[in-house]
Amino acid sequence: MKNGMKNIIGAPINRTDGWAKVSGAAHYAAEHPVEGLVHAVLVTSTIPNGRVLRIDDSAARELPGVLLVMSHENAPRLPRETRDGKIQPPIGRRLTLLQEDAVYYNNQPIAVVVADTFERAREAGARLRIEYEQKPAVLDFAQARQALHPPEKVLTEKPDTRRGDLHAGLLSGSTRIEPVYTTPIENHNPLETHATIAQWDGDKLTLHDSTQYMKGVQRIVAAVFGIPPENVTAICPYTGGGFGSKGSVWSHVVLAAMAAKQLGRPVKLSLDRNQMFGPVGQRPVTEQRMRLAAMSDGRLTASSHDTIAYTSMIEDWIEPCGLVTRMMYASPNQETSHRLARMNLGTPTFMRAPGEATGSFALESAMDELAYTLAIDPLDLRLKNYTERDPGKDLPWSSKSLRQCYEIGAERFGWKDRNPQPRSMRQGNKLIGWGMATATYPTNRSAGECSASLQPDGSAVFRSATQDLGTGTYTVMTQVAADALGVPVARVRFELGNSQMPEAPVSGGSTTVASVAPAVQAAGHALRLKLLGIAAADQASPLFGAKADEVGVECGADGGELYLLAEPSRRDSMAAIAARHGQAVEVSAKAEPGDEKEKYSMHSFGAVFVEVTVDEDLGEIRVPRVVGVYGVGRLMNEKTGYSQLMGGIVWGLSLALFEETVIDKRVGRAVNGNLAEYHVPTNADIQAIDVQIVDEDDPHVNPLGAKGIGEIGITGVGAAVANAVFHATGKRVRDLPITLDKVL
Ligand code: MOS
Repeated sequence: MKNGMKNIIGAPINRTDGWAKVSGAAHYAAEHPVEGLVHAVLVTSTIPNGRVLRIDDSAARELPGVLLVMSHENAPRLPRETRDGKIQPPIGRRLTLLQEDAVYYNNQPIAVVVADTFERAREAGARLRIEYEQKPAVLDFAQARQALHPPEKVLTEKPDTRRGDLHAGLLSGSTRIEPVYTTPIENHNPLETHATIAQWDGDKLTLHDSTQYMKGVQRIVAAVFGIPPENVTAICPYTGGGFGSKGSVWSHVVLAAMAAKQLGRPVKLSLDRNQMFGPVGQRPVTEQRMRLAAMSDGRLTASSHDTIAYTSMIEDWIEPCGLVTRMMYASPNQETSHRLARMNLGTPTFMRAPGEATGSFALESAMDELAYTLAIDPLDLRLKNYTERDPGKDLPWSSKSLRQCYEIGAERFGWKDRNPQPRSMRQGNKLIGWGMATATYPTNRSAGECSASLQPDGSAVFRSATQDLGTGTYTVMTQVAADALGVPVARVRFELGNSQMPEAPVSGGSTTVASVAPAVQAAGHALRLKLLGIAAADQASPLFGAKADEVGVECGADGGELYLLAEPSRRDSMAAIAARHGQAVEVSAKAEPGDEKEKYSMHSFGAVFVEVTVDEDLGEIRVPRVVGVYGVGRLMNEKTGYSQLMGGIVWGLSLALFEETVIDKRVGRAVNGNLAEYHVPTNADIQAIDVQIVDEDDPHVNPLGAKGIGEIGITGVGAAVANAVFHATGKRVRDLPITLDKVL
C-alpha cells in the first residue's frame, strides 16, 4: 500500500504528554491515589559489614498509627531461597529481602515500618533500636584492589581481549604513554526517587512502580513470590528520570509488596534522597590504565585498556570501560581487560552510558596526551587512526559518519584557529582552553510488540509495555504510529507503562526507539491492511473488491483515507470503514532483530569540541561553549531529539566537573548523600551547547533506520573537558571530577 503522506517522522512536534506534565495531570508512581493507602518507610543499616543481632521496636510500637515493623525476625519467608538463604531472582539483582540478618553495606535495607501516615512511619522508623555485630569492612578502593577477580562477562562481551602482539606493538612505536585515569562513584539521582505502591487482591498484585522496565518488574516480582507473571500488573505511565537505576528491580519494590501482603492493605514505599545512595545501584569507582604507542606520524602501533572497578560483596557488576577501546581506532596490537575488587558498598549498576562515558574519558584523554607527545593536532591524530571497519569485531560498520562529524564540528567550533600551546590563550585572568574528543555508543535492538486499534470514531490507539523516562517515547511512537497507519498525529493515542500491554524491552542501552518503533510501525501497517480488507469485502464501500497493491493511503483532515491509485476519487475513510464495521478494528504485531548483528558492527558516532575558561587565581572552571556533532541514523523528532542530545552533553559536563559520591571510609556511607552536596549542574553552570546531526542513512540497524540517542551525548565530553583544561592550564587532570583544587 502506497503512503502518500508527507513525513511525520522526524518532524519537531511538541511532546504529546506535555500538557499532562505541565498541568500536573501526569501522576508519578508515589502520587497515584489509592483508597486505604498506608505508608511505609525503609530503615537501612548504619554499619557496612556484620549482622543485625536484635531490633527493639517497643518504642516504635508505642506510637499511634503504627501498623507493622517488618525485619528479618518476622518477615514472611519467600519461596525462592537458595541454600545460603539469600534470594536470587532468576533475572536481575540479588535483592535484600529481610530473609537473613547479614549486612553487606551501609544503607542496606534492614526493616520496613508501616503506619497510617508517612510522618508516623518515619518517626517509628527512627525509634527502632538496632543492635549489630560489626565486622571489619573493605571501604577503601586502594585496599580493595589488592585482590581482584575477573567478571564472567562485560555486558555480553568477554572481559579480556587480545589482538596482535601488544608487547611487540608497544616496542615498535616511537612514542609510548602509560597514563592511569580514575573516576569516582556517581549516583543517578533522577528527580523522582524510586517509589512503589503495592496492592494485593487475593493472589493478584498491582504495583505502581517508578521503573525503566515494566515487564522486568512483572517477571521478577512474580518470580520472587512464586506466582504467575500474569498475576502481577506493573503500572508506570510516567517515569521521572531513571538514568539506569530504574532498569533493575531493587529490594524496595518487593519489600513494599511483602508489607502489603502482611497487612492486607495497599502500601506506599518511597525512598528518601539519601536512600538513593546505595540500595538502588550506582556507577562504581574505576581505575583505568591506558597504554598507547605510536609511530612518529601518529599511527597507533599498540593500545591497551585495563579497567579495575569495585563491586559489592553480594554480586558482580562491572563498568564496561574497555569496550570503546576495542572498536574505536585501527590499532593492530591490543589488549583490554576488566577486573573487579570487592567492597562493602551497594551493588553498582548501569548509569548514563555505562562504560562509554567513563571509558571514553580514559581513551580520549590518552589520545590527547599522545597528540601532545607527538606534537600532532589531536583531531589529526584521530583521523590518522580512523577505521572503516570495527577492528575488534572485524566487521564493517552498518554506517559511520564520524568523518563528517569531525569536519562539521571543527568548522562550527573554529578548531583551525587553535594554537596548540598550553596557556597560549587568555582573557584577563582567565585561561582559555580548547579540547575535543570522539563520542560513540553502540546501537542495540531487542524484540518488541505493539497492539493497535481503530475506534469507530476514526481515532487510533496503539499500546506497548514500554516506558517514557521523560525522553519522548510517547511523542516519537505517536509519530511512528500516525505515519504507519496514515492518520494525523492528533488522531493517535499511544499508551505505554503497563505490564499487561504487549511485550517491550527495558528502556536502557538507548534501545527503546530501535526496539519498539519497528513494532509500532508494523502494527500501523497491519491495521491499515485490515481496514482495507474490511472495506474490500463491504459492498457499501467505494473500495469494494480492491486489492492492497491498488490502494494508497493519505491523511485527510479528519483522519486516514484509503483510495484507489488508478481512480483517486474512489476513496473511503478509515473512520467510515470502522463505523460500518460497528466495532473497533484490532491488530497486533511483533518486530525483532534479524542476523544484522552478525554482519555489521552498529554504533553511533560523534565529535565533541569544548571551550573552557579557568580562573588563574581561583581555579574556577567554566564551559562557555560546547559543539557536539552526531551521526545517529534517522532522527525521529527534531525537537525531542536535539533536546536529548543536549541533555546528554549536560550530563557529560556533570561527569567532567561536578559529580562525585564521597564515601566515609570509616563507616561506608556517602557523606554527600543529598542534592545539596552531590553536585549536578544547574542552569547557571551550563552555557552555549550547539548540537548538530549529520544526515545518515542506515538500512541495517532496524526498519526505522534510527540509532539510539539516549546515551551518546554524554560520551566523549569528560575527555573533551579534561583536554580543554590541559590546553588552558598545562595541567593534565586524570581524576574526575575536575574540581578547582586539582587545577590550582
Ligand atoms: Mo541506561 S544507563 O542503559 O538506562
